[in-house]
Amino acid sequence: MLLTGNPKLSIIIPTFNESANIGRMIDSILSILRNSGIHGEVLVVDDSSRDGTIRIVQEIAASNPEVRIIVREDDPGLSQSVVEGFSAAKGDILLVIDADFSHPPSMIPEMYNAVCSGADIAVGSRYLKGGGIEDWPLKRRIISLGATGMARILVPEVTDPVSGFFALKRSVVSDAPLRPRGYKILLEVLGRGRWVTVTELPFTFHDREAGESKLRMSTMTEYAAQVISIALSALVSRTGHVYSEWMRLIKFGLVGLSGIVVNMGLLYLLTEYAGLYYLVSAVVAIELSILNNFILNDLWTFSSRRLIHRYSWIKRLFAFHIIAAGGLLINLGVLYLLTEFGGIYYMVANLAGILVAFLWNFFLNRHLTWKGGVPRLN
Ligand code: GDD
Ligand code: MN
Repeated sequence: MLLTGNPKLSIIIPTFNESANIGRMIDSILSILRNSGIHGEVLVVDDSSRDGTIRIVQEIAASNPEVRIIVREDDPGLSQSVVEGFSAAKGDILLVIDADFSHPPSMIPEMYNAVCSGADIAVGSRYLKGGGIEDWPLKRRIISLGATGMARILVPEVTDPVSGFFALKRSVVSDAPLRPRGYKILLEVLGRGRWVTVTELPFTFHDREAGESKLRMSTMTEYAAQVISIALSALVSRTGHVYSEWMRLIKFGLVGLSGIVVNMGLLYLLTEYAGLYYLVSAVVAIELSILNNFILNDLWTFSSRRLIHRYSWIKRLFAFHIIAAGGLLINLGVLYLLTEFGGIYYMVANLAGILVAFLWNFFLNRHLTWKGGVPRLN
């Protein structure tokens, strides 16, 4: 089949000193494109490697017009390179893959098809059922889980928001205010890009066999700064998925305040007008305020999630109670510790306790009670 015109798919490979892998990687991508009939191009974005990577790619490019290389000289970095690849790419669908075979190139057609059939973003996920990580030392797994956990605070619907293997429609990034820094370009795209639907495909991450990883400690501090920056600018710009998570947090807080009104009001009414002993009134008031919060959160806070609830109503109600009980213990624990050992005035300590319990309630309920997420496309 002779393919003319602009490619449909641009495959972006960021490289730094990948001479041991890049030749094989491009060969394997080219044959996958050929076999699947996808009209694609390969765009290597290199940060001035000194190990021959550039020459290898140039040689392949000389006999394959669908292969190009950009050699960057300023502001080196993985994310910056990927974003430069986004702007230089000719396709409508962009796919990012590592050079070192950590991401299986055989999945490229599947990722491409997921975007063709409607997803704005398709993510290769290590944490979805059927995915995994091979040959990672415990330390690296823990670091990665921490990083993933932080990112999931911002984008709970994606199981692997820091994956380096993803495909997207060009429109997601073409005028998004990306601030590429560090390693986690996907989080930047999810946090600041323009998208509605995401789908994930499981894959197993293979550690590189050749060459070495460039992950450094400074990468981690940069990452924490990135997470905070995305969270804050979503609040300012009032758009996107991270903003809707902020709204959810605020709604959850308002519901909590309504629960206090219900609790105090019932305590008073039942004691003064129904003649109940005040501790009995309190038990009734507490339970009814929990029910009030559950119903409002179910109908309001967590309704807009295009959400297919994983659990039945009765299970959600049960989970909400257990989490509330945990929240109460946390509130008491913080109050006790700060007062007894921190020397803090108990009324102030209790405010801190309420705040910690509030966050506990919010995040546990979001991830357990109202677990669900967007429907998978395939
Ligand atoms: N242009 C450019 N500039 N490319 C770079 C740079 C850089 O500064 N640093 C690394 N790369 C390229 C590598 O050559 C490789 O193709 C890819 O980016 C990933 O780099 P690795 O150093 O192999 O990354 P890793 O295996 O530690 O990290 C992987 O896992 C992360 C998730 O935990 C990558 O897949 C990341 O993309 C992913 O976020
Ligand atoms: Mn790697």
